[in-house]
Amino acid sequence: MKQRVTARAPINIALCKYWGKRDTKNILPFTDSISLTLQELYTETTVEYTPKSDFSVTMNGKELNKKDRQKIYNFCLLFAHDDTLNIHINTHNSGPTSAGLASSASGFSALAVALNEFYERQYDIDELTTITRKGSGSAVRSLLSGFVKWQRNGLIQKITDAPHDLVVIAVIINDQVKSISSRDAMKIGVETSPFFRTFVERNQEIANEMTQALTPFDFERVGELTEQSTALMHNVMKTSDPVIDYVSAESQAFLSAIKQFNNSKRKLFITMDAGPNIKIFTRKKDLDSVISYINTLGYKEYHILSPGDYARVIDDE
Ligand code: DP6
Repeated sequence: MKQRVTARAPINIALCKYWGKRDTKNILPFTDSISLTLQELYTETTVEYTPKSDFSVTMNGKELNKKDRQKIYNFCLLFAHDDTLNIHINTHNSGPTSAGLASSASGFSALAVALNEFYERQYDIDELTTITRKGSGSAVRSLLSGFVKWQRNGLIQKITDAPHDLVVIAVIINDQVKSISSRDAMKIGVETSPFFRTFVERNQEIANEMTQALTPFDFERVGELTEQSTALMHNVMKTSDPVIDYVSAESQAFLSAIKQFNNSKRKLFITMDAGPNIKIFTRKKDLDSVISYINTLGYKEYHILSPGDYARVIDDE
């Protein structure tokens, strides 16, 4: 066991969505999903040995509540050699937490990579994926760089690197913590949405078609498929009982306005996850004009993100 290990993991944004588990124990998804790993929003997590019998977790400078602390404790047990966890975990997100900006993806991948090193497990990528997805399914896609597919069989595969001119703008509509976790919301969708079967059939086709459209990168087609997958996932939410609604009226208004930007030729495509914030994919040559357009809509808070590196240890003793 090491004394202290720090890992950093980037967020990933799904172009083809993961929504629903066909196996809730082993965290196996109904369909493949595809994301892009992005570097400027990330989680940094330090796992440190403490001599007193103590387990504590601090996130963004605050002690975690009992429920979240228990979830992290159970996750750590998947790496530990016994059940005495004398560790302190200190974790920090560079962007908003639990607001649909993939903080749980970067959070669990950073923690998994840190624990793998701290307990000197040396798990390979398949073993690490199998454990990491128990923390959060989407987290496994941050274990690799570029366009990453999380397959229906639970394992991950890098499809290809992103083109150098691709850039993502995450527009902060609101940074409040979501009212229902993705984990609970997708369970309700699987159990109650009459649209769920259609989602599964079409979303798997989208994953297959998108894999083709990524090499060579076809901006138009990838954009179209991303928006289709996003709409399918949000349709499951809308037809769930109770209805799951992450898209605020403000997000809706922003979406209608930003879509106008693509008048005759597609210059951007849009996606949203389990929160009000909006992710815009565009090319570097169009970045300045998209940003000025966002400014004219009155939005001043956004992050400009570029394709980045995968989760890795950045310090250990
Ligand atoms: C909406 O990975 O947070 O971001 O596996 O239950 O922890 P659990 O869910 P989580 O789901 C996030 C899903 C999404 C879409 C996506 O990233 O594919």
